[in-house]
Amino acid sequence: MSLPPPPRTAVIVVAAGSGTRLNAGGPKAFVGIDEHSILRHALRGVFAAERAQVVVVAPAGLEGEALTEALSVAGDRQDLVTVVPGGVTRQQSVLAGLAALWGDVDLVLVHDAARAFTPPVVFDRVIASLSGGAPAVIPVVPVVDTIKRVAADGAIVEGVDRAELAAAQTPQGFRRDVLAAAAAAVDADHTDDASLVAAAGHPVVTVAGDERSFKITTGADLERARALLPTGPEASMSVPLLPRVGVGTDVHGFGGTGELWLAGLEWPGEPALSGHSDGDAVAHAIVDALLAAAGLGDIGTHFGTDRPEFAGAHADAFLSHTVTLLAEAGWRVGNVSVQVQANRPRFAARRVEAEQTLSAALGGAPVSVSATTTDGLGFTGRSEGVAAFATALVVPV
Ligand code: CTP
Ligand code: MG
Repeated sequence: MSLPPPPRTAVIVVAAGSGTRLNAGGPKAFVGIDEHSILRHALRGVFAAERAQVVVVAPAGLEGEALTEALSVAGDRQDLVTVVPGGVTRQQSVLAGLAALWGDVDLVLVHDAARAFTPPVVFDRVIASLSGGAPAVIPVVPVVDTIKRVAADGAIVEGVDRAELAAAQTPQGFRRDVLAAAAAAVDADHTDDASLVAAAGHPVVTVAGDERSFKITTGADLERARALLPTGPEASMSVPLLPRVGVGTDVHGFGGTGELWLAGLEWPGEPALSGHSDGDAVAHAIVDALLAAAGLGDIGTHFGTDRPEFAGAHADAFLSHTVTLLAEAGWRVGNVSVQVQANRPRFAARRVEAEQTLSAALGGAPVSVSATTTDGLGFTGRSEGVAAFATALVVPV
């Protein structure tokens, strides 16, 4: 197996701030949103996006803690993590991150750890725009408040048309040479990296940001973050959960003993399928699709031949146990679609019955069954066996 190439992209996660305005008794990045810190939540989004070197800029003295946080969510990307100590200002922390970039990196994203819930798609949007040739890219969201320019004495000077305004977020992305040159030449402190690059004369383009990417600055922001946290199994997942799909297929050859069982129905007079259980390829394909959708492995993981209680078992035993496994992991079945490829049996007359039987075994979730022949081709065309293909949708409970 060859190793993946070194990444061309890096994400610098600046997490070295003290969190003065949050005032939570310690560095902001290590403040808990739930049982996990702001930094850990932010890094989950980073590792769920495109593969990149990840440089965490930590408060000096807390590099080890930052590394632990990063490794706990890095998955198979542990070797892409670098931790360095930050500086007194955010800009100095960015410089510290830049100094730690690997040689192959030519695109750099700078992200505030304080934006704990930035969806991975925002990182990917910024990377896509950079890959398309933009030297500097920032994610923005529209400004919703009516904006006024206010004088030092509090008097309103003028209104500002909010259609011309956008709120800048992170990750902000740059060609490495552009950011490095601007950072080296800078003479004033900038609150974000794009203004530094713009001050150096480079055009900055925008991509869509995301409301969830707000920066945790004050106690009220931390409360907002806590309210956004999913409950149940989503809390332990790397990204907020959406419904998930899975596919499953199964094949059984004719040659079993007794009656045919297929799609949860007994088919008197039809040749039986062989298998450890009843050989019901339709039910087994559905089980695989459901387990795959929920990320719970496959049929062999839960119904292996070392489970004597499933020897000879029919569809309802497989399907109802699968529903239980899903429920334990926080999922319910959305719907299932399954297609049978076989010359025999003929499904037309019993299709609705099969759908109702399978649906009942799945606790009532809709099941669609379709059947087709293969024009005499392949093992199904030669009537040697049956193939089934299932797609399942599971929904977080
Ligand atoms: N940051 C940093 N190094 C600094 C200052 C800030 O890495 N010297 C990081 C923060 O950790 C944060 C991001 O820059 O992730 C945005 O800064 P901000 O929200 O201002 O965080 P703090 O500076 O920690 O907060 P405050 O300004 O309230 O002290
Ligand atoms: Mg600050």
